[in-house]
Amino acid sequence: MARVVLGMIGLGTVGSGVVQLLNQHKHLQLKKIAVRDLDKERLSNPGCPITSDVSEIIDDPEVEVLVEVMGGEEPALSYIKRALAKRKHVVTANKEVLAKHGPSLFQLAREKSVTIFFEASVAGGIPLISTIQRGLGANQFSAVTGILNGTTNFILSNMEEKGLSYDAALAEAQRLGFAESDPSADVDGHDVAYKLSILAALSFQRFVKPADIFREGIRKITPDDLALAKEFGYRIKLVGTARNTRPGDKNGALAVRVHPTLVPLSHPLAAVSGSNNCILVTGDAVGEIIMVGPGAGSLPTASAVVGDIINLESALKLPDFASYFQPSITSEWAATASPGDWISPYFLRLSVADTPGVIGTIGTIFGNHQISIQSIIQRGVIAGRATIVILTHGVVGSDMDAALAELKQCAFLDSVVSAIRIYKPA
Ligand SMILES: NC(=O)c1ccc[n+]([C@@H]2O[C@H](COP(=O)([O-])OP(=O)(O)OC[C@H]3O[C@@H](n4cnc5c(N)ncnc54)[C@H](OP(=O)(O)O)[C@@H]3O)[C@@H](O)[C@H]2O)c1
Repeated sequence: MARVVLGMIGLGTVGSGVVQLLNQHKHLQLKKIAVRDLDKERLSNPGCPITSDVSEIIDDPEVEVLVEVMGGEEPALSYIKRALAKRKHVVTANKEVLAKHGPSLFQLAREKSVTIFFEASVAGGIPLISTIQRGLGANQFSAVTGILNGTTNFILSNMEEKGLSYDAALAEAQRLGFAESDPSADVDGHDVAYKLSILAALSFQRFVKPADIFREGIRKITPDDLALAKEFGYRIKLVGTARNTRPGDKNGALAVRVHPTLVPLSHPLAAVSGSNNCILVTGDAVGEIIMVGPGAGSLPTASAVVGDIINLESALKLPDFASYFQPSITSEWAATASPGDWISPYFLRLSVADTPGVIGTIGTIFGNHQISIQSIIQRGVIAGRATIVILTHGVVGSDMDAALAELKQCAFLDSVVSAIRIYKPA
């Protein structure tokens, strides 16, 4: 006999994987699945009725758990709210809805004494959320950082290994099904920003509005950046970080950012290739934990969804279990630190006139803005123009902005081709 009755919205990449895994867990009864297009050809028989009317699931009193794997902000948000209001537990893979509406959704779940499980919303198959929430529950976290988007990691890996341009590497990722036809959610860093908001909520008890997250994507990275970074002993990765600027202080402003980052070749993040994810969690008791694995894909993501369902099913028997699974997240949005206050070392690539005194002037300008240069080289003089590559020590962001603004006034400067932050441990 079924011990828990499920209804699911969505039968795409993740939903199909969930159906496949649920076949191995017969005590979890999937009663009905809602899709957008009933006429669409499906690869296999899901083994239960399919409907295009979501109400048949949300309004069914027998359905105890709504599995939401349709994605997007609306109507997914409304469906989740309706299910919670009817005191159904929700298992969701939807990072966008959680990042944009987390405070009100968890508040509603608390009011209705139900739970929201969301292991699949960050890092796909890696059990990151339950690890932070429960396994590392004794810790105060100072930072969560990592490679949280497999598509951009695949593109950057391919650019470096094959010397491809960004456009060529993106086209290949699209051809292989690793990137959407509209890649902006991935390549412009929105996807990572949503995941960081969720990780901040778990680690620091406060969601961060996605609009408050500093975000730079990978569109401007060139094969030259990757090759030069490698010469200096680095690999460029799209790294997301959520850090409490005052560890241990529940009101400390959060520095939350996603941008291309030079990572030392010896660091575990540099070794993450292809579409994998890698996350470093820093806690006061445990130190640093590293988790690596598939961040997306049908079965890895379904593994997280069905894991949530199994956890929920075993807890459903207990009285008042919901409060145990409700993360202690406040209903306030987090205050964020200004990027101008962050300290990072930088990799800079400048295109300049090959004339005497250029390096001296750059040194003077940087010195005036408290920027200490770690190394500087001149490269490739073509038709009187040269490339200068500079690595700095840690610089306050506003000082770097001011120095670059002053540099742009110099007649010898054609352009600041690249200004990329270098990884700095939490
Ligand atoms: N794909 C991954 O590897 C991955 C990894 C981690 C998290 N996620 C998250 O998982 C969720 C699902 O992703 P996915 O890749 O499986 O998406 P997908 O392949 O595009 O599938 C979406 C499914 O939702 C259905 N749907 C869309 N709008 C609907 C509506 N208004 N009413 C009813 N059904 C609707 C679609 O119906 P039709 O089939 O009729 O079009 C489709 O079956 C997203 O939140 C995503 O961010 C995905």
